[in-house]
Amino acid sequence: MNPFLINAYREPYLFCDRVSEIETLMMNIKNQSHTTFFAQRRIGKTALIRHLGHLLEQKKQAFLYIDIYSTQNLKDFSNILANAIYQSFPEKQSIGKKFWQAITSLRPVISADEVSGTPQLSLDITHPDHIERTVPQILNFLDSQNKPIVIAIDEFQQILNYPEQNVEAILRTSIQTLKNISFIFSGSHQHMMHEIFNNHKRPFYAGTKSINLQKIDSEIYSEFILRHFTQHKFKVDPEALSYILELTDGHTYYTQRLCHEVFNHNVKKVNRELVAEVMRKIIRDHEAIFFQYRNLVTPTQWKLMKAVATEHKVYQPYAQAFIYKYELGTSANVKRTLLSMVDKELIHHQSVTDQPYYEINDKFLRFWLEHKR
Ligand SMILES: Nc1ncnc2c1ncn2[C@@H]1O[C@H](COP(=O)(O)OP(=O)(O)O)[C@@H](O)[C@H]1O
Ligand SMILES: [Mg+2]
Repeated sequence: MNPFLINAYREPYLFCDRVSEIETLMMNIKNQSHTTFFAQRRIGKTALIRHLGHLLEQKKQAFLYIDIYSTQNLKDFSNILANAIYQSFPEKQSIGKKFWQAITSLRPVISADEVSGTPQLSLDITHPDHIERTVPQILNFLDSQNKPIVIAIDEFQQILNYPEQNVEAILRTSIQTLKNISFIFSGSHQHMMHEIFNNHKRPFYAGTKSINLQKIDSEIYSEFILRHFTQHKFKVDPEALSYILELTDGHTYYTQRLCHEVFNHNVKKVNRELVAEVMRKIIRDHEAIFFQYRNLVTPTQWKLMKAVATEHKVYQPYAQAFIYKYELGTSANVKRTLLSMVDKELIHHQSVTDQPYYEINDKFLRFWLEHKR
């Protein structure tokens, strides 16, 4: 089995580090405070939440995970939450049975999921007032079990896309009354997450403790990679290791993916040349998608992307030196383009560091942009 996961979380053994983050999360949970993750895409938010869930379940502590990326309104949100409870607490458990009793007025319906075929619970609610009351009602039910519960809501920024204007207020008001539930909010979209949690005019302002999830420490990551290769009888040059982390900039998904493909390549001597060869293959496999990206943005946006990719990190995008070098027009122009690229999550603004900078989010795209003539 390939030890470098590129999809879902599986077990602690295949999970690298995040020791201090888990400590902080456990502390927050113990103190009944809520946590927010701010971090770029594919750095490992979801995996970390899953890892936490695994550790909590080992301690027999209740944990609920919902991913609201696909939801479009408050009703969808209620359904996903209700379904998560239904999945986590089967009817034969006392809490599951009580949940059924508590929600009978909301007319629960069980049907097979269109995609996976597994049974799903949904609520037959239509009146707007009822919809607004449903989430608080479900949360109050969980709270009244008098057992500590952790609820993680992934892709939380999605609530800003709901047509209902008062979702944040509804959630915030409800959450404030709970005694036994500790929340974790996570999302990738920088602007939207900051808008929800750091805007003093909004309900969630200063209500949670935040964790800025960074890249995994490169020494710890190197050890992890080496250990897993060695266990499968690969011989890895130290130079190959540092080259992997250089190519991916230590960004979790891209590092996992490169290691995953090197492992699949099944040449037991891993050196720099082999890593380069595998990287070229990955890039070739992605090329069709990269061309699609190019069709989705304007030529000006593409030019800026290429400039940022070539520089790897851009600390002063409005400096004349940068603008001249890549013929990017006026600084006002660059500013507008940069903002829209960040909003589309193609460029990431690394702002929680002494010297903030801009970089291409997708490390494979970055490599391709830099080298493609
Ligand atoms: N600490 C880790 N150790 C090993 N693999 C990880 C780790 N964190 C994340 N991954 C892997 O990296 C990929 C991206 O992580 P994910 O949690 O989906 O990112 P995010 O939710 O921030 O977008 C996943 O395939 C996941 O399995
Ligand atoms: Mg995620």
